[in-house]
Amino acid sequence: MADKLSLLYNGNTFEYPVLQGSEGEHAVDVSTLRKDTGLVTLDYGYLNTGSTQSKITFVDGEKGILRYRGYAIEDLATSATFPEVAWLLIHGELPTEQEVVHFRKLLTENALIHENLLSFFREVPPNAHPMGILASVMNALGLFNTKFYDDEQTGSEQFNITAASLISKIRTVAAFSYKASIGEPFVYPEADRSYCSNFLNMMFSSRTRHYEPHPVMEKILNALLIIHADHEQNCSTSTVRMVGSSGASLYASICAGVCALWGPRHGGANQAVLETLLDIQKSGMTVEQVIERAKSKTDPYRLSGFGHRVYKSYDPRARVLKSLLNELLDCGEHVHDPLLDIAIELEDKVLKDDYFIERKLYPNVDFYSGIFYRAMGIPTDMLTVMFAIGRLPGWIAHWKEMHDDKNTKINRPRQLYIGEPARKFVPRYARG
Ligand code: ACO
Repeated sequence: MADKLSLLYNGNTFEYPVLQGSEGEHAVDVSTLRKDTGLVTLDYGYLNTGSTQSKITFVDGEKGILRYRGYAIEDLATSATFPEVAWLLIHGELPTEQEVVHFRKLLTENALIHENLLSFFREVPPNAHPMGILASVMNALGLFNTKFYDDEQTGSEQFNITAASLISKIRTVAAFSYKASIGEPFVYPEADRSYCSNFLNMMFSSRTRHYEPHPVMEKILNALLIIHADHEQNCSTSTVRMVGSSGASLYASICAGVCALWGPRHGGANQAVLETLLDIQKSGMTVEQVIERAKSKTDPYRLSGFGHRVYKSYDPRARVLKSLLNELLDCGEHVHDPLLDIAIELEDKVLKDDYFIERKLYPNVDFYSGIFYRAMGIPTDMLTVMFAIGRLPGWIAHWKEMHDDKNTKINRPRQLYIGEPARKFVPRYARG
């Protein structure tokens, strides 16, 4: 295997080192390209461009492999807890028993949000999108944590406290925004509950309703959060790293990540999937008609929940969810949902359709996640918030890795200018 790439340009040959990753992948290092040749690379959507080296997550889109720090997503989703996976992503190793206890203590001690922030939830319009609320509050949390700014060492206990505080508070923020939107009093976090049980309790308990999360729902929520916890250099994670590369705080970077995740081509897709299924149910359209619409070249409509920039085979996260489908149906909590039948029919027909086969468009993680959250009682407009709760440890891990990497530079892409060439200024009276 050649370890250099030769480039012939303007009669000169330039050589660029080819680096090898730990899973045998290769990348050409073009850091000196512009200095050598005056050229910049142009790569819309970064289809071929690596922005960094990373030790956190490995994805093989052709083979349908996803590993966090070397561990298979299938093993983590079924055998670990979400806080353990968060620790793994941030620190690189599964936590020891002692670290589990310590991290649990930090999560519990930091679950509350400052009472001054509660008025924000009450003042926003009841129909405000929960992702807008989440982005605003995640940024505002930084205003209440001045210690972190005094000690930005990512190896310090203060960093651990800040990371735990963000991971713990995000579920409180999500549940409070829901309670405010339905006009119910907030339910506070409880010290003796697990991460997932605490969240479900804050969402669905009230002074007049006793709610105890079903163990299967807790298990499924745990798996959902784990499968969303990281996915290497996706749009929101790259945003977190890019914003952080300017020296912006962890809070500001996470806020930017939440905003990036909001879009329908990224985290907003699980909401779009449910809306598609609801449309099919309400409009009386057949699954075939929706598929034909998605295939039409004159209609920009796309079938949400299918296709992925990286996976050109079945998304392993969708496979994890599919394996939990029977447990969901058998747990007795699930009131039979006609959307599930539509989803199963849609998946079946898409997987047999030549258009989708040729383009390697398979169900992605968002295809089933919305159905699972719906079974839990999570409202449709909170689905992207659930994604953000899961993705937060990944964002923190990448922010830390970017922060600790001595090669980090402020991210500043180049461009190919295609506007007007230099021209003479025209005074206002002469512009016609
Ligand atoms: N429905 C119909 N056609 C599609 C779909 C879809 N969901 N996705 C891609 N295609 C078609 C495109 O029209 C294009 O067709 P063409 O070659 O005839 O022009 C071809 O497949 C390739 O499409 P690209 O946009 O180039 O593929 P890319 O890999 O860049 O896109 C993306 C990936 C953005 C996720 C796309 O598949 C999509 O929009 N899917 C629907 C939204 C969705 O589910 N997003 C969630 C992603 S998972 C996540 O963020 C966690």
